[in-house]
This record gives sequence, C-alpha cells and structure tokens, in this order.
Amino acid sequence: MANFIVDGGKLLEGEIAVRGSKNSALPALASSLLFKGKVEFLNMPEIEDIKRARELLSGVENNKLDYEIAKKIRASILMVGPALARFGKIFFPHPGGCSIGARPIDLFLEGWRAMGAEVSSPLNPIVANGGRVGVNSIPFYEIKAPHGLRGCDYTFRTPSVTGTEGLMMTAVLAQGKTILRNSAIEPEVKHLADFLNKNGADIRGAGTHEIVVEGSGGGLLSPRLPFVAPPDRIETGSFIILGLLAAKKLRIKNCAREELSALSAVLKDIGADLEFDGNDILVKKSDAMRAVNIKTKEYPGFPTDLQAPFSVLLTQAEGVSMVHETIFEGRLNYIEDLNRMGAKITLCDPHRALITGPTPLHGRSIEGPDIRAGLAFLIAALIAKGETAVGNIYQIDRGYERIDDRLSALGARIKRI
Ligand code: EPU
Repeated sequence: MANFIVDGGKLLEGEIAVRGSKNSALPALASSLLFKGKVEFLNMPEIEDIKRARELLSGVENNKLDYEIAKKIRASILMVGPALARFGKIFFPHPGGCSIGARPIDLFLEGWRAMGAEVSSPLNPIVANGGRVGVNSIPFYEIKAPHGLRGCDYTFRTPSVTGTEGLMMTAVLAQGKTILRNSAIEPEVKHLADFLNKNGADIRGAGTHEIVVEGSGGGLLSPRLPFVAPPDRIETGSFIILGLLAAKKLRIKNCAREELSALSAVLKDIGADLEFDGNDILVKKSDAMRAVNIKTKEYPGFPTDLQAPFSVLLTQAEGVSMVHETIFEGRLNYIEDLNRMGAKITLCDPHRALITGPTPLHGRSIEGPDIRAGLAFLIAALIAKGETAVGNIYQIDRGYERIDDRLSALGARIKRI
C-alpha cells in the first residue's frame, strides 16, 4: 500500500488548475445509461472513483452491479436508477465509500417504490453472490419494474444530493410526470439536469427544491452535446485553504468561484484575503487568522466536504473555534490524528468539536479515513515541522487527480512511496 511522505514547512508558490468536478462527473457518467448512443465526456478528472464508475458501467448490461466495485464507492447507487429505468431490473450491493457515517439508501428505495418498482428486502450476500462472499459482507438488493416505471409525486424527508440525482435520472425514462419535492439544490444537481436537457430530457426546476420531470415512457435519449465537467468546487475550496496556510503566492486557475460563497463569507470573518482575477483566485499565507464557528449545511451553506480541511486551517487561527458537522455523524473521526500532530481539538460529541489555536503541527504517521480528511491530512503535513507519513492514500486518489505531482510542481516536498 502506498504512502505519501511529506517533508513539511516549505512555502509553496506557483499555479494550480482545478480539475473537473468529481461529484458532477459521477452522476453524468451514470446517466449514459439513459442514452441510446455513445456519450462524449470532456474534462473528466482522472481519479480512482471515476475509473471505478467506468468499470461498473461497462459491466452493467447483465442487470447486476459488480459487487467488489459497487461496495467500494457510494456513487454506485447512482447507476441503479438509470439501469432500472433502462433494463427493468437491477441487482446491486449496498453502496460503500467513505466511512463518514451510516449512509443509508432508504430515500432512493422509497422513491423507486413510488414509481412502481418492487424492491426486495436486503438479500443475504452469500446466496445473492453465488457463495463467493463472507457472512459479514454487504447485503444485496434486487429491484424490478416488470410493468415499467411511472411518474410520481415524491417528497424527500431530508434533501439528498445523489438521491435527487438518482430519482431525477430514473424519472427521465418513466411514464409521465414526476415531481421531486424538497430536492437537494447542490450545483451538481443542476449540472446534471442541464446536461440531460441539452440532450432531449425535460427537467425543470433543478437547482430549486422542486424538480419536475416529464418522462419519456422508456424512449432513450440521443446524444447531441458532450458532458463537460465543470470545475470542482470542493477542490477549489481545498486549494484556497492550502494557499492560506502554506503558500508564498498561489494562483488557483479555473475556479468555481460563485459556488463557494459560504466559504468566502467565513474567510472574511477569519480575516483572510482572497484576490480574484477572472476565473482565477490568488491566495497567500495569512498570518493573522481569527477563530470562527462553522456549521456544515446543505448548499449554499458551508459544505461538509470542506469541513476537514477547514479544521486544519482553524488549528492555525487565534482563539477557540467550534466546528459543527450537521450532515454526517462520522465526519470528525480524523481529529485524534490531528491532535497527535499537535492540534488542540476537543470532540464534544460526534457532531461538534472545539479547536483552540494556533498550535504548531509536527510530522507524524497518520491515515485519512475518507477522501476529504485524507486531503486535510496532506495539508496538515505540508505545514507541519518534520516528516509526515500519510497512509491510506487510495482515499486521496479517489477524489484528487495526481495530487502529489501537482503539489510537487508548487515546490512541495512530497513523495509517493
Ligand atoms: N440520507 C438518508 N437516506 C438516504 C440518503 C441520504 O438518510 O437514502 C442522509 C445522509 O445520511 C445524510 C444526508 O441524507 O445525513 C445527506 O446526504 P446526501 O444523500 O446528500 O449525501 P450523498 O448524496 O450520499 C453527496 C456527495 C458527498 C457529499 C454529500 C453532501 C456524491 C457522489 N457524494 O453524497 O461527497 O458529502 O453529497 O454534500 O455526490 C465526497 O465527495 O467526498 C463526498 C462524500
């Protein structure tokens, strides 16, 4: 298993370009199942999750998602709706992915049931997978729509990003009108709807809490225009944080600036300066940052995916900050490792932590539990004194393209071992 060995404390300088958005690219790839020809994808990030999604898609024709791949990425659930709508039947394991909380799929299942699908109870994985997996493995589901899918009026109990994307894609091929209420309004939902509409779908309201889809009754879409992955807003935010902590001068190119208003607002409170130049953001190390309280929220609130990197920033801010993670119950599980590096963070309960700063960080051996905490650790390692070994870097490679090469180009001392 590879590690990153980082020799911290060196100021970075130069330009880094933001890559295509992972969480826009994943549903767009899944949506290729709604098409009758080959869809062209441009500006796709070369990351592990996209590779896995492509592998999954190439094997989906036999009404089954590959167990080993699907259980590794949460985005496998995005394939289920389009596959069900296209083939009338799909067999898939409970989706895996980051260990950041329970991550149920009840909203998806409820939505498909409302469209007339029959959902099995979770099936014993040994029986379901021909005896090839262990007793404690992840259960399978089987969903069938023997009489086709029909439009429905469905209200999300809580807004879900992939839930909204999944049901929206399913509805594109259903018979009649679907109304999705209390939908997620994350930009990725709108990116997907815009792409599908450009290729013949009829989706209104994406980007608001009420989405209306006129289904085609099974008629597949014909590819007209390619999907062009927009800049990744989470990567943009992460590079801003990196620059504020570790750059003499950093130009972040190709930014999704308008999608980061919550981060920009919090940065004003903290006393950090950003400079804008068209689609580029210029940022440099900020020496006088003040503590601030953050609370993660659905868009346009502070993104949960920036919570871990931002906590690293708060270890360098003067005073006591409160971090309140409201979306996932297991997303503060990186704190112990940051404390071992010298941070002063107290976990109040699974959702809240108090960070007292500034505290110098020191190199240690650490291992990120998920994509975003992995990147946060890399940032911590870059500002730490001495050498840090960052393990479990598959998690980082899942979401960030060749991050070691891109950071090395800025002068970072980082090696993949
Ligand atoms: N939820 C349910 N039931 C469901 C689905 C979700 O209770 O059936 C709950 C979740 O447990 C959570 C809340 O709803 O408490 C919101 O989760 P959501 O479904 O919106 O998350 P997601 O769609 O699984 C996407 C991103 C995540 C990002 C979240 C929140 C993708 C592929 N993943 O996940 O990204 O954190 O939205 O913005 O789009 C990442 O990129 O590292 C990542 C984890």
